[in-house]
Amino acid sequence: MTIYLNGQFMLIADAKISVLDRGFMFGDGVYEVIPVYSRKAFRLSSHLQRLQHSLDGIRIPNPHSEAEWMALIAQLIAANQPEDQYLYLHITRGVALRDHAFPNPPVPPTVFMMSNALIHPPAHLLETGVACVTAEDNRWLRCDLKAISLLPNVLLRQAAVEAGCAETLLVREGGFITEGAASNIFMVKNGTLYAPPKDNLMLPGITYDVILELAATHGIPHEVRRITLDEVRHADELLMTSSTREVLPITQLDGKPVGCGKPAAMFTQLYSLYQTFKQEVMRA
Ligand code: PDD
Repeated sequence: MTIYLNGQFMLIADAKISVLDRGFMFGDGVYEVIPVYSRKAFRLSSHLQRLQHSLDGIRIPNPHSEAEWMALIAQLIAANQPEDQYLYLHITRGVALRDHAFPNPPVPPTVFMMSNALIHPPAHLLETGVACVTAEDNRWLRCDLKAISLLPNVLLRQAAVEAGCAETLLVREGGFITEGAASNIFMVKNGTLYAPPKDNLMLPGITYDVILELAATHGIPHEVRRITLDEVRHADELLMTSSTREVLPITQLDGKPVGCGKPAAMFTQLYSLYQTFKQEVMRA
């Protein structure tokens, strides 16, 4: 596997960073995950805009212009075998003696990128859907930043795995759903698609945007507003979205069936629209 680290492409086995890197010490950095279909990065500008938002949010100057990122990403894709890849971009505040405050004077950020094969969700999951659990959303109040300090997300996802489930739906104080531990969540009730509003409590998903755009283009009734846990428990359908999982139906929540307990009409329509859209965009 060829990776990129601080200006150089190299084999992953040769990539080394300092133990004093602030990413290692403090989780002081941000990241992006970008799907690549047939060697083309999907929605690259949106991912780079979100990266800029994350960098601004933690006050790391962007080490590259958009054109530079695009050129580096094209090289990374070309250097790796799979046709469909997922790219991981990771930027930390750099290497400095351990002190919580920012290094003064500032040090160059650490820039790391790798590519892995994009594994598509297995067909049987699309037919059966996935099971999820709920848990209190105990993360910080800047979940709009794609920060590498993911300890709450790690523990929340592990809770799902230990319950034999695919994801944990996060419930904030006040009883509303924000997102999943590593995905966005949609609800369907009486033919309308509901999405939580983009605010500081959730990551503005790129797949989330695509789903809402498809709903708008294809006349699917949809509404962006807070969704309560009580509504989720009585939903007709629940969907989860992310760059690596695309759109998946949630057919069980906390051990009880969601709606009819099987993938239903809204999922089928959005899944098919998503696949068509992907192909059209990538061909263009
Ligand atoms: N995670 N919310 C959270 C907390 C996430 O970590 C992710 C994605 C999403 C979905 O965003 P997008 O559609 O842009 O992938 C929502 C990635 C895949 C990860 O951390 O690996």
